[in-house]
Amino acid sequence: EPINKKFHIGLSLCTTSDIWKKTNLELIQNELRFYPDMQLTIKDANGNCEEQEKHINEFLNEGMDLLIISPNIVNSIKPSINKAYSLGIPIILIDRKVIGVKYTSYVGGDNYKIGYDAGNYASLLLNGKGNIIEIKGVKGSSPTIERSKGFRDAISICPDINIVLSEFGNWQSNGAELVMQKVIRENLKFDLIFAHNDLMAQEAYRFLKKSGLNNKCQIIGVDGLPGPGGGIQSVIDGQLKATFYYPPQIEEVIRIAYKILHKLPYDKENFIDAVLIDLSKAEVLKSQNMQVERLQERIDKQKIALDIEISKYETQRLILIFALVS
Ligand code: FRU
Repeated sequence: EPINKKFHIGLSLCTTSDIWKKTNLELIQNELRFYPDMQLTIKDANGNCEEQEKHINEFLNEGMDLLIISPNIVNSIKPSINKAYSLGIPIILIDRKVIGVKYTSYVGGDNYKIGYDAGNYASLLLNGKGNIIEIKGVKGSSPTIERSKGFRDAISICPDINIVLSEFGNWQSNGAELVMQKVIRENLKFDLIFAHNDLMAQEAYRFLKKSGLNNKCQIIGVDGLPGPGGGIQSVIDGQLKATFYYPPQIEEVIRIAYKILHKLPYDKENFIDAVLIDLSKAEVLKSQNMQVERLQERIDKQKIALDIEISKYETQRLILIFALVS
């Protein structure tokens, strides 16, 4: 392997439209600064499986050394993944899975556990009795399947808890709005909403507030992002009863990509733990996150200062070489 070889990595994302995926994208740039020999090209399929299949094939034609893929649903993009695998191109799946394909490594949250913990927490909030609305993600995406299954398994021990409506909100606020319209149209009685992400949970809250029903219902979301618009703030504001911190996974993926490309040992399955955030944890997380942001700013400033010194050194080195040869 020649010294200074640049590794070309293709990152195929099923979507970048939501704040969780956007946060992942921002973090990539930061993380890549530590790996100057890796170069990343990003393609966004906007939730379209055929488009994602096309992107992966394009990456193969472009001769990528490794692929990072966040698939849309479990039954998509199989031919292109199989082709990549048979060509010996390492594949890291991130966040969502594809069923029945071979891959090099997976990085994601334990979505069954998120659903299970959400179900336990819901049972606790309801004291073992009540009606639940479930607003799911995209049909067929692995976090939707696993969060839903975990949730049902946990509440199944409470015979007086019923899921009165379970619909796909497609991970988006307008999807959640449609589900809530149906709830009102059908005049359903409900005590709690479990939304598969915070975006939909926040929309459910807005909808209930608009309809004057927000005091009658507790809402649980998933993602738990810090910062304005994130789920942690919604818990602090009392809009959500709880969320789950579903950590952005891209930094871990970049680290694993590095190990694979440099033939270092790595784990095939990498589950990043997700934790329940209720009001008591939300305040602590918010202040810790502000501290992390301040540290990040200082690191950024030091990096700029270091870059200036390096370029001064380079100039002086060139002047010296020039003086020596002339
Ligand atoms: C973003 C997102 C997150 C969710 C994850 C599951 O696209 O919807 O909100 O936790 O995907 O894949």
